[in-house]
Amino acid sequence: MLTRRMFLEMAGAAATLRPSFAAAPSEGLRAIAARRGILYGCAAATYELKDSTFADALAREAAILSAEYEMKRAALEPARGAYDFSGGDGLLAFARAHAMSFRGHTLVWHHSNPPWLEDALQSADAEALLTKYITAVAGHYQGRVHSWDVVNEVLQPRDGRADGLRNSLWLKRFGPGYIDLAFHAARAADPHAMLVYNDWGCELGAPENDRFRAATLNFLDGALARGIPIQALGLQGHLSAFGTQVDQKKLSAFLDAVRQMGLKILVTEHDVDDSGGSSDIALRDSAVADASRRFLDVMLDCPATIAMLTWGLSDRFIDPPGWRDRLAGRYPRMLPLDSAYVRKPMWRAIAKAFA
Ligand code: XIL
Repeated sequence: MLTRRMFLEMAGAAATLRPSFAAAPSEGLRAIAARRGILYGCAAATYELKDSTFADALAREAAILSAEYEMKRAALEPARGAYDFSGGDGLLAFARAHAMSFRGHTLVWHHSNPPWLEDALQSADAEALLTKYITAVAGHYQGRVHSWDVVNEVLQPRDGRADGLRNSLWLKRFGPGYIDLAFHAARAADPHAMLVYNDWGCELGAPENDRFRAATLNFLDGALARGIPIQALGLQGHLSAFGTQVDQKKLSAFLDAVRQMGLKILVTEHDVDDSGGSSDIALRDSAVADASRRFLDVMLDCPATIAMLTWGLSDRFIDPPGWRDRLAGRYPRMLPLDSAYVRKPMWRAIAKAFA
């Protein structure tokens, strides 16, 4: 029987698949990306998997999965020493059941930490709070993850340090050495996982992004010279359709410098914020698709790029906007599928970039 969903999908696919691009309606981004040797996937949460229609779309579209928040320390270690792997394990089980890779996000971050951590870090044996956590978590997932974002968002040139490091609770307690400790602990806990340094700030074309790119190359240079086992750079890829745009030339030159360091590159959290523009949905969707395509064309042209993940798959699960936007019926449209899981212009832009 032809369901509404199948009808919408075929109608949507037929309407949009102009001669320049061909993919079977049932073919997802994972298959199209695979032909280019790229892993396409997205972040998800276990509650989303309860929706079987969404779970089907996820299985069709994604070849790699990450946890939007269930593998952050606040979720994994809500009380000191009491680990809760249920969320991460649930997502890993889904990934395995659908022949997907799985990536860990994130072992060390200045955000999404449990309320007890900051005080506990003041104790004399604080270093164990960093290394033992990584040993426990990366150890639990040993041999079962494609890659780990070992540290997330360690750079913030705005904090005014010469090395560009973010003045986080970790830096305040341990100095820059916490990054070395984290990567060595992750390597020891899982000899197989690709170890990634993940951040935002290198994608766009503003002067601040020039500073971020310079600080990132300087940081990577120094870390590799110290023998830190960083194998890849993760670019989050949070863009804005109506804000500062990607500078393709600067981004391309930056990626080439990273490639020449022998590092792989992943897009880890791609989405396109559509706030601030027209209220016309078609205009917003095409601006989102254009921004995504301009970014991905540069990312995918770099031979070091091995994976591209969006920060979710469907608009359905994006946190609702403020009451004004809700009143105006303006809901974010930042991801490849709309809230009815229908493919949007962004999906086609991503598919064409892969093709
Ligand atoms: C965000 C999630 O989307 C939220 O659900 C959570 O409450 C906080 O984290 N950079 C990152 C991601 O590396 O982990 C963040 O995700 C978004 C910005």
